[in-house]
Amino acid sequence: MQRIVQWVDPYTNEPLLEENGFLISSTGKYALHDGIPNFVTKLNDPLQEQVQISFGNKWTKSQFGQDDSDFPKIKDVMLEMMNLNESDLSIFQDKVVLDAGIGSGSSARLWALQAKEFHGIDISIAVYRAKNALKSSGKEPILAQADLNALPYRDESFDIIVSNGVFHHTPNTKNALKNCIKKLKIGGLCLFYIYKKKAPLREFADDYIRSKVSDLPHDLAMEAMKPITNFAKSLHEQSIKIQVPNDVEILGIKKGEYDLQRFIYQFFFKCFWNDSWGFEYSNLTNYDWYHPKFAWRHTEKEIQDWCKELNLETKYVKESESGYTCLVKKLS
Ligand SMILES: C[S@@+](CC[C@H](N)C(=O)[O-])C[C@H]1O[C@@H](n2cnc3c(N)ncnc32)[C@H](O)[C@@H]1O
Repeated sequence: MQRIVQWVDPYTNEPLLEENGFLISSTGKYALHDGIPNFVTKLNDPLQEQVQISFGNKWTKSQFGQDDSDFPKIKDVMLEMMNLNESDLSIFQDKVVLDAGIGSGSSARLWALQAKEFHGIDISIAVYRAKNALKSSGKEPILAQADLNALPYRDESFDIIVSNGVFHHTPNTKNALKNCIKKLKIGGLCLFYIYKKKAPLREFADDYIRSKVSDLPHDLAMEAMKPITNFAKSLHEQSIKIQVPNDVEILGIKKGEYDLQRFIYQFFFKCFWNDSWGFEYSNLTNYDWYHPKFAWRHTEKEIQDWCKELNLETKYVKESESGYTCLVKKLS
């Protein structure tokens, strides 16, 4: 069947010819593995390369998101994280969709099936696993290893671009949004989730921990996360409630009753625990936060300013505990 959106050379926009396991243009040659081209032939930014390797390891050294039986428990957390209801997913129905930064496909299971044609890219080798994660959805995804700042598509190709937790892992979050929406048709939608700025002591401690962890190789970084994950698990199990009698505005703390683990998580340092995910996946989530060198956090005002500058209509900006989920429409 003829594809609606074809790959082009990401640097020259030329059409590509398939020959002996490569996609070839007059200036580029991109290897195909398992039908998936690799357009990431060079990365000039060593920090983006660190992010690429960090996530390549995250998604290939664990089974996260791969087994169908895991999906129901991942699904609820993903929907909650993105502050979405199942009914919000109807926007993908019968649309030409790109998932920018698909990882190993765990959240793409939420929207791949509804699409008329579904594309996914990721800068890391995780993309080769996304095929497996999505096979039971009944949709044949069209995947490529690519940098969202050098996408292998002509401008104005897609009806919808979705990007869950990706733009903040690139050198510049606003540029990531800008480069993605170039590939959106006028009137098309972009649904994205990015981290929000946290309370001041949490920002401080998280940056400190990240500076200690992000230079470690994957296995040591995973080990370094274990005391944090264990701490979170233990506090969660102790189920200690505390009362904060008044707002402590300077530290962003609001008065009220808190579970102690959630209190520390929210205001002092990220220590993720989820009972249904268990130790391995909770530890992986802490790694996901502390290991990649790019993990920008933003305010709603910044997002609104970018949208104005990029001529995007903001359909909504939904705030959750950890980030903002935004639906924007390309006006021109
Ligand atoms: C937190 S993961 C999210 C993966 C997926 N969206 C999900 O919801 O499971 C972030 C992903 O962004 C990818 N990424 C980071 N920088 C990128 C870039 N410049 N271009 C494409 N993907 C990128 C990483 O490789 C990683 O798989």
